[in-house]
Amino acid sequence: MKRSKKDILAGFIILGTVFLLSGCSFPDQNRESKKNVTQEAGTEAVLKETGPKIGVSIYRYDDTFMKLYRSELKQYLEETYHAEVVMRNAGGNQETQNQQVNQFIADGCKGIIVNPVEVTAAGKLADAADEAGIPLIFINREPKGPEQQRWKREHMAVSSVGTDSRQAGSYQGQIILETPEKGDFNGDGVVSCAMLKGEEGEKDSEYRAEYAIKALKKGGMKVEELFSENGDWSRESGKKMAQEAFLQYGNKIEVMFCSNDAMANGALEAAKEAGLVPGKDVYLVGVDALQETVEHIKSGEIAGTVLNDYDGQARLAADTLIKMIDGEETETRYLVDYIKITAVSTFETLKGDD
Ligand code: BGC
Repeated sequence: MKRSKKDILAGFIILGTVFLLSGCSFPDQNRESKKNVTQEAGTEAVLKETGPKIGVSIYRYDDTFMKLYRSELKQYLEETYHAEVVMRNAGGNQETQNQQVNQFIADGCKGIIVNPVEVTAAGKLADAADEAGIPLIFINREPKGPEQQRWKREHMAVSSVGTDSRQAGSYQGQIILETPEKGDFNGDGVVSCAMLKGEEGEKDSEYRAEYAIKALKKGGMKVEELFSENGDWSRESGKKMAQEAFLQYGNKIEVMFCSNDAMANGALEAAKEAGLVPGKDVYLVGVDALQETVEHIKSGEIAGTVLNDYDGQARLAADTLIKMIDGEETETRYLVDYIKITAVSTFETLKGDD
């Protein structure tokens, strides 16, 4: 996968932070002990490195962010650990995901990575893997605190790699505070917002919305929440919710907080179709730093986003799983930092690029 200087730089900063915080070290990429000599039919003895078989279940393949995440995860596991990756789409169905995990166990996978459909299913999946003696890592959607404490208490080889969405929400609020009008276009002292959220009950989007507003208030602004609705993290649902919001409130909406960039990109289309000039009549802000959104930030149509570092998260999940497979002690919870991205910071980071 070709990477820009920005990606690489950001990757280094984030990986550095995480490894320092969690006391991890980079893996031994040689892993001599894991090399097998395989005799292939009709050939001389061939030295072929075969790493562990890893089962990965993703909550939905059509999630834009998880597409980037899973392709990095697969590539990193294959290139760094010569793993045989068995990747499955749970299609938004918890029962399907449970069956996939049971199949990974039956097929002799040495480690399992789960992006849960529902975090409440974590306990059952953790128990199944633990009983089979197979390490398991939850990614992206974090199981609840008491469940994580249980893994520690019961010395289970189960861990979670994720992010703190309160941080993402706070950065979204700060991005608006950094605009010339602090999000208050009409100067009435109140920031009138619309919240476009991900799946209902999903902690990430709840935290992002809550902490965006908290940050505005902390920055001295009064806030009025005109509209709040749940979608499914997709561009289409973002567009649909934004259409509804603009139909009801028109240019009364000064800031539209979108729980992710896919929805922000959809909301941008809706804003333009409603005859608004994004960046002049309304500020849009997202999370993830998808390439398309970063382009809209550079052109001034989206106020900012928050980098959700899928590279760092995928690598950390893979490294941690391999450590567990090797019988090493690991933490039960790892968090990767978000990074605030605005036109100014994007420009600063990209300045050195050719
Ligand atoms: C990402 C979203 C994604 C969601 C899936 C979030 O962390 O920001 O883009 O749809 O995870 O759970």
